[in-house]
Amino acid sequence: MGAADYVAIKDLAQYEGEVVEIRGWLYNRRSSGKIHFLLIRDGTGVVQAVAAANDVSTTAWEQLEQLTQESSLIIWGTVSRDERSPGGFEIHLQDVRVLQIADDYPLALKEHGVEFLLNTRHLWLRSPRQVALMRLRDRLMFELECFLRQDGFVRVDTPILTPNACEGTSTLFETDYFGETAYLTQSGQLYSEATAAALGKVYCFSPAFRAEKSKTRRHLIEFWMIEPEMAFYTYEDNLKLQEELMTQVVGNILEHCADELEEVGRDIKPLERVKAPFPRISYDEALEQLAREGLPLEWGDDLGAPHETAIADHFDRPVFVERFPAQTKAFYMEPDPNRPELVLAADLLAPEGYGEIIGGSERIHDYDLLRERIRQHELPESEFQWYLDLRRFGSVPHSGFGLGIERALTWVAGLDHVRESIPFPRLLNRIRP
Ligand code: 4AD
Ligand code: MG
Repeated sequence: MGAADYVAIKDLAQYEGEVVEIRGWLYNRRSSGKIHFLLIRDGTGVVQAVAAANDVSTTAWEQLEQLTQESSLIIWGTVSRDERSPGGFEIHLQDVRVLQIADDYPLALKEHGVEFLLNTRHLWLRSPRQVALMRLRDRLMFELECFLRQDGFVRVDTPILTPNACEGTSTLFETDYFGETAYLTQSGQLYSEATAAALGKVYCFSPAFRAEKSKTRRHLIEFWMIEPEMAFYTYEDNLKLQEELMTQVVGNILEHCADELEEVGRDIKPLERVKAPFPRISYDEALEQLAREGLPLEWGDDLGAPHETAIADHFDRPVFVERFPAQTKAFYMEPDPNRPELVLAADLLAPEGYGEIIGGSERIHDYDLLRERIRQHELPESEFQWYLDLRRFGSVPHSGFGLGIERALTWVAGLDHVRESIPFPRLLNRIRP
């Protein structure tokens, strides 16, 4: 029991034979003459409450008669085991207090179109599938943070308003900062590099914003990203960390979220194969393979969604695509010592066609090279003085990566579109509700 004196539906097993108070909403009802069968949801589960006219007061019975879908209510009744009931328990209702009789609920229990569901997102979130998804999302974030903390990482938050472009200048959201131009952050990485030099192993966990004009199943305008950054980690250390992280996180989600995965209809077999080490394919090899499969790219082109899917289809677990042409990637990546036209960067592609879930790299630690890259990318050098400073005062090799929460959840939950993976999606042409 929490601070208040009522019971969560998920905990009913502990109260068999007792009278409990439950607070929730009417999910559905069925009535046959002198008996009402109420399906009540409280966010932790759904339970059937049975109310017989003979067992409750006339006032209570009259209230029950008026209940509409999503009416809010408090009930009192005895808990009994019942295998046929959802959750395995049933409540024999003794009394009820109705808080509000809901208006005609727009999301009646039938199929609806996507646009309608998105317009009604504030209510759609109440459906069992969406509740399961939000629980999976919560668990995913929890497990990611658990792993990092167990491994000695410190969470250090990074700013949302910034004058710096981290991931290219084409997707910046501009805003006015008292007469100066500021942007909504695309990534906390540059700041995390500073905090890594202060604390060693850090991560930031923040919304990120990309004014991407692309309307795909994978792109959000506002998304959440967790970004570990590690002083002294090499490129190899970085990949190993990602493998261990994903293995533990997916394993723990399978262990703790079996009900949620079932609710969303996820086939868990592919998830059970997520075990380190993950296969690797170089960018060059990927290009050759893509050409053989009728998806040719010019050397230097970035991989699009169909390319990522075609590459990942060859593997039964996440795969690293590594060593990209420098020109394809961001300005801060360390060159491959054997082939300086490449960078020590890897994208982790989820299996089953879900695409990139992690982007990471070793960072340039040499002052002169970094300044040269900032110039090549035509970034305003004055805004990067502090970032260059990190290479003047105790520069060390360091690496990091960013994992997009919604991309990862879309894969783990087996969704066909990223829009269901965040409570209130911001998409191209959608900022409401
Ligand atoms: O590959 P990205 O752009 O890498 C960075 O931002 C680095 N600064 C991260 C780092 O090294 N600290 O983005 C990282 C991840 C992607 O792999 C993807 O999961 C997610 O962020 N992501 C998006 N998710 C949803 N919608 C978008 N528009 C996304 N853009 C990136
Ligand atoms: Mg990327």
